Amino acid sequence: MNRSNYNLQRNLKSIFYVLFIAIMGISCQQEERPQMSLQNAPLIPKPNSVVDGSSSFKLKPAMAISYQEGQSLSQKVADQISKEWNDLTGNSLKVNTNQGASKDAIVLKATTVEANREKYNLDINEDQIVISSGSPEGYYRGWQTLKQLIQLNSSNNIGNVYIPTGTINDAPNYEYRGTMLDVARHFFSLAEVKEYIDVFSTYKINYLHLHLSDDQGWRIEIKSWPNLTKHGGSTEVGGGTGGFYTQEDYKELVRYAADRFITIVPEIDMPGHTNAALASYPELNCDGKERELYTGIEVGFSTLCVDKELTYQFVDEVVGEIAAMTPGPYFHMGGDESHVTPKDEYLTFVNKAVAIIKKHGKIPMGWDEFTAGDLEGNSLAQHWHTKENAIRGQEKGGKILLSPAKKAYLDMKYDSTSTLGLHWAALIDVKSGYDWDPDTYIDGLAKENIVGIEAPLWSETIEDLDDIEYLAFPRLLGYAEIGWTPSKDRSWDDYSKRLAKHSGYLQKMGVEFYRSPLVEWETQKVLK
Ligand code: ACM
Repeated sequence: MNRSNYNLQRNLKSIFYVLFIAIMGISCQQEERPQMSLQNAPLIPKPNSVVDGSSSFKLKPAMAISYQEGQSLSQKVADQISKEWNDLTGNSLKVNTNQGASKDAIVLKATTVEANREKYNLDINEDQIVISSGSPEGYYRGWQTLKQLIQLNSSNNIGNVYIPTGTINDAPNYEYRGTMLDVARHFFSLAEVKEYIDVFSTYKINYLHLHLSDDQGWRIEIKSWPNLTKHGGSTEVGGGTGGFYTQEDYKELVRYAADRFITIVPEIDMPGHTNAALASYPELNCDGKERELYTGIEVGFSTLCVDKELTYQFVDEVVGEIAAMTPGPYFHMGGDESHVTPKDEYLTFVNKAVAIIKKHGKIPMGWDEFTAGDLEGNSLAQHWHTKENAIRGQEKGGKILLSPAKKAYLDMKYDSTSTLGLHWAALIDVKSGYDWDPDTYIDGLAKENIVGIEAPLWSETIEDLDDIEYLAFPRLLGYAEIGWTPSKDRSWDDYSKRLAKHSGYLQKMGVEFYRSPLVEWETQKVLK
């Protein structure tokens, strides 16, 4: 190559280089992030405070999550988030320790431990998403917020998903935000319960109360009383085949819930609502005679025999086996509608059962009637029916969980056209279910004695997951918000507009929700 050719080539190289840099510069500018508003994101429950960053973070197919090295609980939650990320986006989310933290990453950042373990801060900038908390619960709740931001975006292609930048500071108003599933009137499989958990965990529900026994069925294996499930679990309302959870099933459910920071509350309803047990063991009846299995929906006709010693051996062994598999603090002993148990006998029974529950290391919990007993503090009464009973529980030093049937029963019909549900307490449309304040619902009940709210779903009229979804959704989203967001920050007007935008999200999760005519459901892209 002669000298002039060489120079020409060098000059051309320089020109190409300059052009290349210029083109790259222009194309980087063209990739400018859309300006988005975090404040306008229709999150449920509504967070405590949201500050706009006025830009956006672009999701990438290859992202990572990092946690602080040496924190095994943080690693566990990072693994769980990675799993849910994969389900949500179809992409993997690599789990690193903080040494590996970089751009395009979700960072779990440890702050000082707070009494409110679910408190979190979500900070999204153009390059990174940081979830800060003093506890793994906080990381997980922050992740649910992030998950909603991703899922509310209509694009299914992760390369086209932008989420708004900004900062969310958030913590729940109440510690207990629960729902109850009656698996006794109709039985629901482990897979169905897990799918239900998957949906409501997204809305930061943190307690699942399982109504494990009733007149129509006994649904949890008790090794010392095997006929409870063998015979007592063999049918259900309407005469179907029923079913039950083995102890392995129950432990698996407890673990599945715990991975999502949801506490299982087991309930064995007694001394009433016990026909399935009385049909399984004739000796539990005062007259020693076997009872027929029951497949109707009447209540208040059965009772354990309060005078028999065997009754307390039964209660002790049942509570003992279930308590040993239950890491959560509560054991629910029912105690409602014991219409055929004489009043003095009811008191004797409640006092003995409460002592047994405490002996097994659990806090006694019961429907509001059980406050008639000698509770002596450290108890939890679930108000469903009689306000005076809630006040009595408070006077005895106990805490109160609010599940007023007129407002919070998920099995009540929405309106007269509802295809499932009952209506003995009220018709509860989506607005009525949302529009109330637990702090003021019962005159004289002090806020510090209210642990939170729970929305029970009784199953007389429902048989499968689709039926659960019709009654639970969308109302359960409202109860999740009532439990999380202080009432001063809530209004039906604002909530119903946000709820409208969850229709696509619920559909993506495969939820057969009830399209309430009170909500103007939106399906187009909702994050702007
Ligand atoms: C109840 O609804 N019997 C608690």
